[in-house]
Amino acid sequence: MPYRTIIEPFRIHSVQEIALPGPEQREEALRRSGYNLFNLHADEVIIDLLTDSGTGAMSDAQWAAMMIGDESYAGSRSFYRLRDVVCDLTSMPEMIPTHQGRAAERILFAETVREGDVVPNNTHFDTTRANIEYQGAEAVDLVIAEGRDPAADHPFKGNVDIDRLVKVIEEAGVERVPLVMVTITNNSGGGQPVSMANLRAVREVCDRFGVPLFLDACRFAENAWFIKTREPGHADRTPREIAGEMFSLADGATFSAKKDGLANIGGFLAMHDAELAERCRNLLILTEGFPTYGGLAGRDLEAIARGLEEVLQEEYLRYRIRSTAYLADKAAAAGVPIVKPPGGHAVYLDAGSLLPHIPPSQYPAQALAVELYRDGGVRGVEIGSVMFGKPQPDGTEHPAAMELVRLAVPRRTYTQSHIDYVAEVIVAVAERAGTIGGYRIVESPPWLRHFSARFEPV
Ligand SMILES: Cc1ncc(COP(=O)(O)O)c(C=O)c1O
Repeated sequence: MPYRTIIEPFRIHSVQEIALPGPEQREEALRRSGYNLFNLHADEVIIDLLTDSGTGAMSDAQWAAMMIGDESYAGSRSFYRLRDVVCDLTSMPEMIPTHQGRAAERILFAETVREGDVVPNNTHFDTTRANIEYQGAEAVDLVIAEGRDPAADHPFKGNVDIDRLVKVIEEAGVERVPLVMVTITNNSGGGQPVSMANLRAVREVCDRFGVPLFLDACRFAENAWFIKTREPGHADRTPREIAGEMFSLADGATFSAKKDGLANIGGFLAMHDAELAERCRNLLILTEGFPTYGGLAGRDLEAIARGLEEVLQEEYLRYRIRSTAYLADKAAAAGVPIVKPPGGHAVYLDAGSLLPHIPPSQYPAQALAVELYRDGGVRGVEIGSVMFGKPQPDGTEHPAAMELVRLAVPRRTYTQSHIDYVAEVIVAVAERAGTIGGYRIVESPPWLRHFSARFEPV
């Protein structure tokens, strides 16, 4: 088309009212929630960019597919439909449905990871890290140096540092490395993609040491689009062909269908190894359910199967990646520091650079997230020292590598004017950055503290 505007490749078919709480209501909500945005009621939020996970809009075809969901306890038709779609996409014959991605992680790590083991990844997502640490193993992040520098412009900032990967395996001893993981795209490192060349290089290392490679494939389609548009030699391939090659390099994958499954719930564990899959299924039955539904309704399996097909449509991916970049462009044009280039599913504001007067021990990214809510009812999430800081025995904390606020864009949910509004709020908060103060934690659980910790202003 001769026009530059990339339009939403859908029209709105059903609408959901959003709440418009005023400033006093937001202030009261902040106090009640202990300045933790996870504790807000959704009706206290105007634009919810907390996560792109399970918050997207399903298509008419997905809703229609739900009507033919087969709710049989065992051998559901919907299971076989999803299994065939996954097998076709990944070439992995074993597909174990789970209620979401972390259930796939827990089951995989319970069967593969032992105390004292080391699991490398570009950057572990919080639940992935927590599930590995729960087994008594160490989760090691090995993203390339550019991936840790918010200002560095690199087309594949999610790439694994191959030299460090080799070193970590050699130092740990291969018997202590049960698997290597690569997260596509790299959510906790800014939603940045991993190149095909890098995946091939990781595969070579895994082959050299005889270690299996698993993808954390939540956003595989967005990663495929970045490969198509940024990596030489892939421009003429379809996203499906690229995704197929990505999966062909791996032995298995964990998947949260709440992202590129375009569904509101669900996930799966896929792999080649039939013996490991059998062990995982035995564990699945304990907590998730029979292996042909794995904690999901038959209709959910149908929605995921259809979503996996829609997510690879070029028109969808072009719109998806552009709409995230649109918000990033607006923030960057106003001089707000962001992770560059923008990720696939989210814009990451660099709170460390915007609020240099707040030390990591007072959680600058938490402070920025609170201000976006206070000013405009926009809910994002802290990805910094609250999420990844490591408490030390002397009571201090080892800070996270970056202090980011993630504004995740739900799929097919908000219009351009919603995003324009968010950009205005970001700019207004950035203009008074010097007046913003830090926070201290007053209550904290032992695991995944960012979900439920309570804070107070310093
Ligand atoms: C990279 C990555 N891995 C794993 C998960 C966990 O998936 P779920 O939330 O479905 O348990 C997420 C969720 O956001 C993620 O982004």
